Amino acid sequence: MAAPVRIAPSILSADFSRLGAEIEAIERAGADLIHVDVMDGHFVPNITIGPAVVKALRPHAKKPFDVHLMISPVDPYIEAFADAGADGITVHPEAGPHVHRTLQLIRSLGKKPGVVLNPGTPIDAVDNLMDLVDLILIMTVNPGFGGQSFIFSQLKKIEAARERISKSGRNIALEVDGGVTPETAKQAIAAGADVLVAGTSVFKGGPSAYAANIQALRG
Ligand code: DX5
Ligand code: ZN
Repeated sequence: MAAPVRIAPSILSADFSRLGAEIEAIERAGADLIHVDVMDGHFVPNITIGPAVVKALRPHAKKPFDVHLMISPVDPYIEAFADAGADGITVHPEAGPHVHRTLQLIRSLGKKPGVVLNPGTPIDAVDNLMDLVDLILIMTVNPGFGGQSFIFSQLKKIEAARERISKSGRNIALEVDGGVTPETAKQAIAAGADVLVAGTSVFKGGPSAYAANIQALRG
């Protein structure tokens, strides 16, 4: 039996002037993970936050920090995010010359390694990494910004990732990120996703709406 879907609000859509309070609010509203989008203005065309902010926010959360690194080169910063309090660290194969080594490094630091595939990256990219990852993240938008539309062609990739996870016999989470709404959530879950990242659809309407927004994504 599939595990119940977990919801990982992306704090990219939170009120950045009060991030600590926003994290506390989404936890009270039922968030299962805190998704942290790290962007460098180079690997993706936007700049967000670094390890110092992750460290400052960590005491505000009880739930695991799911840190999605959209930075290149990525290797020099893995340890800083691990020290800052990341629980899972997810990297793009394009973000460094040796993704296998990067995942080994994350594991060696006692963190959960994840690999993330852009819409243009084929599913085969995970084939030689299955023994190393605790999470596969399928992007359903091109990374860089919140508020974009779900790319439906990625549903097939979610299905293909689910098949590979089943075959591997390992306990690997299958996460989907980008354009997740109550409608697209249903399709992602049907395709095999068990963790949904959502920014816009969790944070819309302010704190009093967060619980209902999260519940609406559970399918
Ligand atoms: C995009 C980020 C996503 C994004 C999701 O680069 O990785 O996590 O914030 O935002 P929504 O849910 O608004 O598409
Ligand atoms: Zn993300």
